[in-house]
Amino acid sequence: MHTAIYPGSFDPVTRGHLDIIARAARATDKLIVAVLNNGAKNSLFSVEERVKMLKEELEEIPNIEVRSFNGLLVEFAKQCDAHIVVRGLRAITDFEYELQMAQTNRILDHSIDTFFLTADLEYAYLSSSTVKEVARFGGDISAFVTPAVAERVMEKYTGVSK
Ligand code: PNS
Repeated sequence: MHTAIYPGSFDPVTRGHLDIIARAARATDKLIVAVLNNGAKNSLFSVEERVKMLKEELEEIPNIEVRSFNGLLVEFAKQCDAHIVVRGLRAITDFEYELQMAQTNRILDHSIDTFFLTADLEYAYLSSSTVKEVARFGGDISAFVTPAVAERVMEKYTGVSK
């Protein structure tokens, strides 16, 4: 059985993340979506909120588990008995950082391989930072995130919940 991990900050989860997740889940037996618990210092959402949003978005895909993790990804992968890390590549600008991360992970644990999926062209420009930037100035984020996520993001900036 091939278990893969798709790690990230997901602050918040975008339509681009969801596309990579759906495609990765089709290619593996089990996909663990792993939310980095970075102490929520510079995050819009707490790790619990990010996990909850992902679980809601992904409840219809049976071979997905959403979990949070602390510390090194390779240690978490070992705990999950996963040897594949999935990452999305949007543009050449992602490549340097992703290559460095993949190689670091492989030095730390030689049994780990990173599989890259190229982002769908529709989402090639998209990042969680873009979502927050547009939302902060009251812009329409419906092209970037699902309605449920958009509602949560707007709540954060306006303090108003529907
Ligand atoms: O969504 P992001 O912020 O690009 O995800 C980055 C993430 C969470 C994959 C990366 O920061 C990570 O794996 N952090 C855990 C710490 C770690 O293992 N670092 C060593 C690899 S450089």
